[in-house]
Amino acid sequence: MSELIEKLKTAHQLTDDELLRFLSEEQPEEALFAAADEVRRMHYGDKVYLRGLIEFTNYCKNNCYYCGIRAGNPHAERYRLTEEQILACCKEGYALGYRTFVLQGGEDPYYTDDRICGIVSAIAAAFPDCRITLSIGEKSRESYQKYYDAGARRYLLRHETADPAHYRKLHPESMSLENRKRCLFDLKAIGYQVGSGFMIGSPYQTHTCLLSDIRFLQALRPAMIGVGPYITHTETPFAEMPSGDLHFSLKIISLLRLLFPDALIPATTAFGSMHPQGRELALKAGGNVMMPNLSPVRVRKLYDLYENKICTGEEAAQCRNCLEQRIRAAGYRIVTDVGDSLVPFGQAES
Ligand code: 5AD
Ligand code: FES
Repeated sequence: MSELIEKLKTAHQLTDDELLRFLSEEQPEEALFAAADEVRRMHYGDKVYLRGLIEFTNYCKNNCYYCGIRAGNPHAERYRLTEEQILACCKEGYALGYRTFVLQGGEDPYYTDDRICGIVSAIAAAFPDCRITLSIGEKSRESYQKYYDAGARRYLLRHETADPAHYRKLHPESMSLENRKRCLFDLKAIGYQVGSGFMIGSPYQTHTCLLSDIRFLQALRPAMIGVGPYITHTETPFAEMPSGDLHFSLKIISLLRLLFPDALIPATTAFGSMHPQGRELALKAGGNVMMPNLSPVRVRKLYDLYENKICTGEEAAQCRNCLEQRIRAAGYRIVTDVGDSLVPFGQAES
């Protein structure tokens, strides 16, 4: 085992120089995955937590240069789910064993705070033993507080990149890294279990950017760290840019597990979209969460963040069975409880 993997495994920390060396030097993949898997098992055993993902709107007012559902893509066919449709997804998910529902969408002004709170409180009333996660972008602290008061307890908002110059290359002037960070710290202060993260291999990303991402995550201490390879979408300004690399992305999963032993780290859909066994590989590299799609099949292809996104044809029940087999074959076990992170967070749970 390399000296850096050894240090990561015991100290869960590297200096800036060591981190840059870790990123640029070839690491023995088997030893790295084994170290990450050992650390993951020490904290979470062989458990894999499931979160049912409901992509309820693909309207978005923003124009991130990498994203297929950006406002500036005239070819995106837009949809919104009604409260009834969202509740039907939850009902189906509940029957399949899901106890966390993740409501994800573009930044869609149609869903005012009142509408979001209405949806959240309806889910909370119908499924009192479930956790509700929101992933609907940048809002004011007051809005985040309203959603919390309505019953949301988790929030996913990837910072995307913690390097200000890199952030500018991925986003138009109307967006700012400063506001994104403000959102994440507000969410934490309110008491949410927060998920953040970034794409791996996004255009113009350097190892120094990744170093900033890691230092930012160490300051934020999120409950969940979501990362996945960047995948090119042809209807974006980055159409000519290459996608990220699968093996480098897996190396980052292991690095994150070794640096953040108690974090929830999803084997994201982007891994599965890059390689038929991508999500299993991400589990073996240190991941411990999967977020299968609970959205109605009719709209799945339309939530088109990047090319060749998987699981757009399957019914929820098919996804569940397929996952169960994949997770078992990889040597892990699905658990159906709410699956809170071991990372301590803001205020007490209600
Ligand atoms: N490739 C990979 N991930 C992407 N995301 C958006 N566009 C892409 C892409 N082209 C990720 C972003 C966002 C999350 C919902 O999806 O990190 O936060
Ligand atoms: Fe919608 Fe980036 S394109 S938030």
